[in-house]
Amino acid sequence: MKDIFGKALLDYHNGNYTEDIVTSTNISSEDILPLSYLFRCYAEMPKLEQKALQLAKGKVLDVGCGAGNHSLYLQEKGLEVKAIDISQGAIAVAKQRGVLLAEVLNILDETETFDTVFLLMNGTGVFQELQQVSKHLKHLKSLLNTNGQILIDSSDITYMYEDEDGGFWMDTNANYHGELDYFISYKGEKELPMKWLYLDFDTLKLACESVGLQCKLVLEGEHFDYLARLS
Ligand SMILES: C[S@@+](CC[C@H](N)C(=O)[O-])C[C@H]1O[C@@H](n2cnc3c(N)ncnc32)[C@H](O)[C@@H]1O
Repeated sequence: MKDIFGKALLDYHNGNYTEDIVTSTNISSEDILPLSYLFRCYAEMPKLEQKALQLAKGKVLDVGCGAGNHSLYLQEKGLEVKAIDISQGAIAVAKQRGVLLAEVLNILDETETFDTVFLLMNGTGVFQELQQVSKHLKHLKSLLNTNGQILIDSSDITYMYEDEDGGFWMDTNANYHGELDYFISYKGEKELPMKWLYLDFDTLKLACESVGLQCKLVLEGEHFDYLARLS
């Protein structure tokens, strides 16, 4: 990983903003991810994220914390928070913004236990592909204290396969429709291609049940997105 994402966060945080991140996927053309969105405050967050923050309790793990928006909010509310991310740049920014405990760490290498585990801004993305969902869910379950919870958001991206006539061009022999190849570029530099998984709620629920986690739908968003609570 070249950590293009981290470089962009560092630039924005250090006042060197000149352009946004450009994203694309194997099924969609280029799109802009505004850097300002990665530095959103509570009032600017989608309802799903606000709801997740309201449900937080006890010792919290913020997985894939990015610039630390959710961690900072919870820390200010007096909760004990650990923020982790595989991006060195993201962790540097989260620390500079005031996150007290922030570490470069892959979720699969986390060993402490928590009362609340957050995975937000398409939290299922870190699972990468359908085949890896069980492994991640089992691991996340092992990180929960008694009565602990996982708050995770994602979307059913079936709509991305809809053509102009309202028909669908999904190849039913292909892999699960939420498995995407994700590409990002910033200031002319391209990140190595990543796998990024969007999971519809029913598929997430089934996967949870297979590893002994209860999965409840907390809230639906405005565009096929949802927040789930696993316990
Ligand atoms: C879409 S960003 C979300 C950032 C932040 N949560 C937010 O809402 O602004 C996903 C983040 O997850 C991090 N990430 C991806 N895979 C990860 C993994 N296996 N363990 C920890 N962090 C990961 C990425 O580096 C990135 O910062």
